[in-house]
Amino acid sequence: MKEFDVVVIGAGAAGLMCGATAGYRGKSVAILDMGKKAGRKILISGGGRCNFTNENTKPENYLCRNPHFVKSCLSRYTQFDFIDLVDRHGLAFHHKTLGQLFCDNSAQDIVDILMTECEWAGVEVTLRTEVLKVSKNEDGYYLNTSNGDYQCQSLVVASGGLTMPKLGATPIGYQIAEQFNLAVLPTTAALVPFTLHDHDKQRFDGLSGMSIDCLVSSENEQSFRENILFTHRGLSGPAILQISSYWQAGQAVSINLLPDLTLSELIASWRQNSPKKSLKNCLSEILPKRFIEILINEQAIPDKAVNQLTHTEIKQIHDYFHNWMIKPNGTEGYRTAEVTLGGVDTDELSSKTFEAKKAKGLYFIGEVTEVTGWLGGYNFQYAWSSGVACGLAV
Ligand code: FDA
Repeated sequence: MKEFDVVVIGAGAAGLMCGATAGYRGKSVAILDMGKKAGRKILISGGGRCNFTNENTKPENYLCRNPHFVKSCLSRYTQFDFIDLVDRHGLAFHHKTLGQLFCDNSAQDIVDILMTECEWAGVEVTLRTEVLKVSKNEDGYYLNTSNGDYQCQSLVVASGGLTMPKLGATPIGYQIAEQFNLAVLPTTAALVPFTLHDHDKQRFDGLSGMSIDCLVSSENEQSFRENILFTHRGLSGPAILQISSYWQAGQAVSINLLPDLTLSELIASWRQNSPKKSLKNCLSEILPKRFIEILINEQAIPDKAVNQLTHTEIKQIHDYFHNWMIKPNGTEGYRTAEVTLGGVDTDELSSKTFEAKKAKGLYFIGEVTEVTGWLGGYNFQYAWSSGVACGLAV
């Protein structure tokens, strides 16, 4: 049996950060992961370039039953602290829109930085080791793994969520929480594309690959201004992924297809300047033509010259484009989702240390907790921040 001060389950973003932080404090640390490589989700993130943080990270960018929970860790280890770390390692990176930071070369650079930090901190990272069972005895925590048994004073669960099962996602973190009588909030896929009902799929067949800059709103009035993308299964694109975290089965989403314009005013100007022009041709100047043709063919909007439109029709057309309602059939689920909504209830954890209030020496960090960030580097920032807070406490 191997003995350590700290055992971390999961060599992902949160686990590696926590392990290195604890190692630098002189703790003996083992990080165990069932994968062949460390940081497998980091490697596939951001299209292979890892959107590793967001310069504008704020507690408001997270969904959590207790909105105050993330404040402490985000303020103790900020996005700028992580930027300092990657700067010290000479990482080449660039800014994209909305404060998102990406590697210039490859996400592998982020994994290399974390593995180097672990090495410098004297942390043992052991791969191909699946944690099968955890128990508690008078000496601390005892782990049965596919690669021998471990004993530790502090057990950190950084086993992630349920997304991408083929990358080794397991429910072990939730099972350990339940074993120690901690509440786990129901889990669902988030930051995930929507699937559409068959009739909508048929309507938009042929639009696959088309994207439109929109303002998308959920029934609880959360809005995101980014692109939507038609796919052969339904709708995706950053605005759709964002709103999926706020969507519940059976609800509709409202899509403002012309967020920078007031369509009724535009129609008035068309009526004045080119009265005989068809509505179809006018609209095709501001939205993709194939999309407008579908709406005309299904008579969602009239096929008329703009000077023939009645005032009632103008109002209906205005409302239609500024509040286009779509009722998704569901989501693509954990197979393609970026994150898991729900997880270990943060009311069960200290927001300073991430230790379970009911189980001394047991900690939960990263995605296994019910904290879910927006798209745009926020999820990795929470992994870094929760990892450091916990690594300073174990
Ligand atoms: P993570 O899932 O990374 O690590 C958990 C580890 O635990 C895994 O390595 C797993 O093998 C291991 N494990 C599980 N069960 C085990 C067991 N029983 N025994 C041993 N090991 C076990 N976020 C972001 O901010 N920017 C981005 O660009 C992206 N992009 C992105 C793309 C895609 C395709 C996905 C799926 C996700 C993203 N994300 C993202 C989200 C981000 O990847 C995610 O929030 C973090 O990886 C969570 O880090 P954790 O360390 O908590 O879990």
